[in-house]
Order: sequence, then structure tokens, then C-alpha cells
Amino acid sequence: MCGIIGYAGKNPAVLVLLEGLERLEYRGYDSAGVALIENGRIFVEKKVGKIRELIRSLWGKPLKATVGIGHTRWATHGEPCEINAHPHTDSTGEIAVVHNGIIENYRELKEKLQAQGIQFKSQTDTEVIAHLISLYYQGDLLEAVIKVVPELKGSYAFCVITNREPYRIVGVRYGNPLVVGIGDGENFMASDIPALLPFTRHIIPLSDGEIVDLRIDSVDIYDAEGNRIVKEAINVPWDIISAERGGFKHFMLKEIFEQPRTVGDTIKGYVSRDYLLPFNLRDFRRILILACGTSYHAGLVGSYWMNKYLQTPVEVMYASEFRYADVPVGERDLVIAISQSGETADTRYSALSAKEKGATVLSLVNVMGSALDRESDYTLYTHAGPEIGVAATKTFTSQLAVLYSLAVSHLPDRDRFMEKLSSVPHMMEEVLGEAEQIKKVALKYANRKNMLYLGRYLSYPVALEGALKLKEISYIHAEGYPAGEMKHGPIALIDENMPVLVVVPRDRVYEKVLSNIEEVLTRRGSVISVGFRDDETLTKVSKDLIGVPEVDEDLTPFLTVIPLQLFAYYIADHLGLDVDQPRNLAKTVTVE
Ligand code: F6R
Repeated sequence: MCGIIGYAGKNPAVLVLLEGLERLEYRGYDSAGVALIENGRIFVEKKVGKIRELIRSLWGKPLKATVGIGHTRWATHGEPCEINAHPHTDSTGEIAVVHNGIIENYRELKEKLQAQGIQFKSQTDTEVIAHLISLYYQGDLLEAVIKVVPELKGSYAFCVITNREPYRIVGVRYGNPLVVGIGDGENFMASDIPALLPFTRHIIPLSDGEIVDLRIDSVDIYDAEGNRIVKEAINVPWDIISAERGGFKHFMLKEIFEQPRTVGDTIKGYVSRDYLLPFNLRDFRRILILACGTSYHAGLVGSYWMNKYLQTPVEVMYASEFRYADVPVGERDLVIAISQSGETADTRYSALSAKEKGATVLSLVNVMGSALDRESDYTLYTHAGPEIGVAATKTFTSQLAVLYSLAVSHLPDRDRFMEKLSSVPHMMEEVLGEAEQIKKVALKYANRKNMLYLGRYLSYPVALEGALKLKEISYIHAEGYPAGEMKHGPIALIDENMPVLVVVPRDRVYEKVLSNIEEVLTRRGSVISVGFRDDETLTKVSKDLIGVPEVDEDLTPFLTVIPLQLFAYYIADHLGLDVDQPRNLAKTVTVE
């Protein structure tokens, strides 16, 4: 999905750009580059691989530029290689662009430019932007950009510099994220807030169609027609410490261990009634939850709670499926769009289309000022702090905390439910205290090629989430399945080579799931179970039991998901894989 950054100030731009890029690396990591205005010319350096390769190649170069742009790439158009790495320049080498997103009509634009004799160096869609700006440039970069934007179709954000106006960076947001950071005698722009946290917490999130003219001591924002807009900066409550690894080997491990605090912080935001929405969830005809990946799994858990306590029909759909399905939606529907980043294209566009059809959109996001936050009728925040590891962990449990709070919000004895929820962080600590034991169990399965994850009722989405964690960071094929469905097909897979991880707390379906375990054992499958720690029956039938404290059935997902997160983490780390930046993935998926 790529990360972009721009800096104009008094300090060496290369240092700011590299530090910011390292924090954006989770967005893509197949190549990286910077363009600086160095002694009146554009200096470009780019390298295939991670930011550290770029740092190595820049090491010792006496670069004094105080204005520049940078990029970390997740390839869409053109294989990952130095030529396709950003920044891209026009034919004169006097205009440089970094871009995140897709220019859908780039072929058509490229042909037009080639017909005018312009030669292309790369296979990227980005290069058309540099050439187009060059074509329209008549001494004012902002004016040229305003002319180019209507020609571009797709979803994108880009930053552009020219050595002809060496004090200026122009940035555009159109579908992909771009935030502006306000400093003291220096200003910044970047794809995401964590990239700017070492420098400033005063942030102006741009909206789609907005253009920023950023200079060392000024920031001006314009709409697509070039009219000036006044926007206030927000003060982001995140601190720099929360965006650092703090002694942990990986961000993912740190984020798993942060959960008692992040869930606690999120609960604090919902314990008092102040947050309460100006409507009752029960007034809607139906609640439709839309999300992707881990956020979708949180939505599934939430749907069980809402069905139980609201007695309003609740449906959960992958946002990417909702988008092109003819789902009837109207004014009496509430759409809850869940997204950590608030920038996921599938989720944003499906929420927007539901809104157009008259539904009320309530979003649940972790990033304040993100697109979904601004595009929704109402927003509730998860107070998880920045999540840097590509695999979502702490935001999942914070999403659960908000969804549970919502599900019980109308109950007369809501406070009693919230009190129960408040006991969760302490129990999560206890589960984390078992990390070494979980690691021992995990390592026994590190060399397996396949795994099945089963769960039923609230543990079904937990099983899905555990399987997703394992496949995305360890590349082991794992399938999550409703335990009761196993007999309808997947049971054919079970033999002595298929470990089956069963999430089986003592809840309403406990006995049923025990029977499913028996079915697995009969077929010589080995069972790893995640259940209550004093469960003797489970100890007898499991090869390995990972125990969590006994808790009310409603709250089991908060505890049972932690062993699954750690299980995946320890296997991936043992295999020597890049846990925080797994192959082919990007944290924020801004393409459909
Ligand atoms: C999995 C993961 C992804 C995201 C998905 C949605 O670990 O991180 O599956 O959950 O891309 O992202 P958000 O929540 O930002 O919309």
C-alpha cells in the first residue's frame, strides 16, 4: 500500500525522512527511496528491499538538503526493482514524485504522453504523475498539481517537489491517506500519524480531494478547484513511546503484551455514559456490521453479543463482499463499520454506499481523523494506541471492548455488565503470565504444514482469528471452522498429521465441542485445546491444554484469543520469519 512522507524545515531532511519511513515500513517494504533538493538539484536515492538498505546506501553521504520526500513501496504496478522504486522523476529530473495508491487510467495517460515524445523509465503508474506535472508546470507547482488532479482516475495520495521551487512540497489526498504535521519552523506530511510522532503531535488529516502546499514556515490547504480551506490541527493523544518497540523483539509481541492496558484504556472510555450515542441501537430495524480481516472477526464476536442483548437482527459481512452485492439497505438500518486504520478501502467505500442509501453509519476506528472517522455519521474510538505490527492484535481486543459496551448499552443493569468487563484486563495479565508455557506448546507444532482451528458460538470467530494470525505471519496453512460444521466436510482432512486447535471454554456449547474433539481423536488427530485452566476433562482429551482463567462465557474471547496470538507469534519467530512485516501484506489496505 506504500508509505509516503515529505519534510520541509531547517534540519537535514534525509534524517527526518528515514526516521519517518522506518515507521511507515509496515505499509510496504519491497523498496524504498528519497528525493532531496540538494544544492539546487534533485538528488534521488532508491534501493530494493527494506529501509535499512536505503540507509546503508545513504550512509556517509554529506546531504544537507532541508526539503525532501520519501517512499516505502508495496508493489502494485511493476515488479519490485530499483527502476520501479519511488521517487519517480520527469524527463528533466527536476520534478520528483512519491505516490501511494493506484492511477487507474495510467495506461491511457502514458500513451498520450508517449505520443508527445515523452520516454518512460519505469513500469509504474506513478511516473505519469511526474510527467504530467512537468507538462503543466509554468513556475508554480501548486498550479500545476491543480491542473493534473482532474486527469487522474483512481485512488491515491502523492507528494511532489521541484528544484525550481526548492522550499515547497505539494501533497494531494484522493482516496488514500495523507496527514500534515505542524512543527515549529518545520512542517511534514505523511501517510500515517506514527511516522510523524517523533516530530509533532499537531496533525491536520486531509480529506479526499484536498491539496496541501507545505513550506518551511507555512501550511496552506486547498480544495480540488484551488480554493483555500481553513482546517484546525488536532492534538493526537498518542506518544512516541507507544510507537516504539520498548525492549520487545517485535512490535507484535509488544502489542500482544500491551493488551491489558489497551483494553483497560478502551473500557475507561465507555464505562461512563458520556460516550452514549444520541440514538438507541434497538430503534433500528437491523444492524449491519461491515469490516475486513481481523476487524471482521471482532464484528462477528460483536454480533453474538448484540443478538443476545439487543434482540435486533444483526448481520456481519465482509466489506469487500457487501460492496458489490445487492444488499438492501435503507434508513432504518444502522451500519457499524469497523476498521483499525480507518483507511481500508473496502470498508470505507461500503460504508459510504450504505450511507448514500440512507443508513446511519457508526464507525469504530483506532485512528482519529482517518477517512472512515470523517466519513461516518458517528465514530467510536478504540483507545489501543498506534498498532505497528502488520498482524492486528491489540486493536482486536479493543474493538471487542467497544462492541461489548455497545451491546449492553441499553440494559437497565448496564453498569453491572460494565463492571464485569472491567475485570477483563486483570485476567488478560494472567493469560500473558503463561507466555512461556504457550511458547513451549507452540514450538512443538512449528514444523507442521497445516492446522485446523475450531470453535463454536463466541469461540468460532476466535478460531478464525487464530487461524488468520498463524497463516499471515508463519505462512502455515491454517483453516478456522465452526466446530459443529467439521462433520460436514473438513473431518475428511483429519489424520495423525493434522493438529486441531480447539477453542473450548466452559460455555453453553462446551459439551457439544467436547463431542467434536472426540470425533477428531477417533481419527487420530491431535488436539491442542484452549480452555479453562482447571478443566480436567479437557486435560484428558488434549495433547496440549493452554489454560485461561475461568470467566463469564460472554467475555471468553478476550482471554482465549491471547494464546492464539502468542501461538502464531512464537512459531513465526522460531521459523526466523519477519513477524512485523510478513511477506505480501500491508497494514493498511487502501486498494479494493
Ligand atoms: C490481520 C490484519 C488484517 C486487517 C484488515 C482490516 O492481522 O491486520 O486482516 O484486519 O486489513 O484492516 P482495518 O482494521 O485497518 O480496516
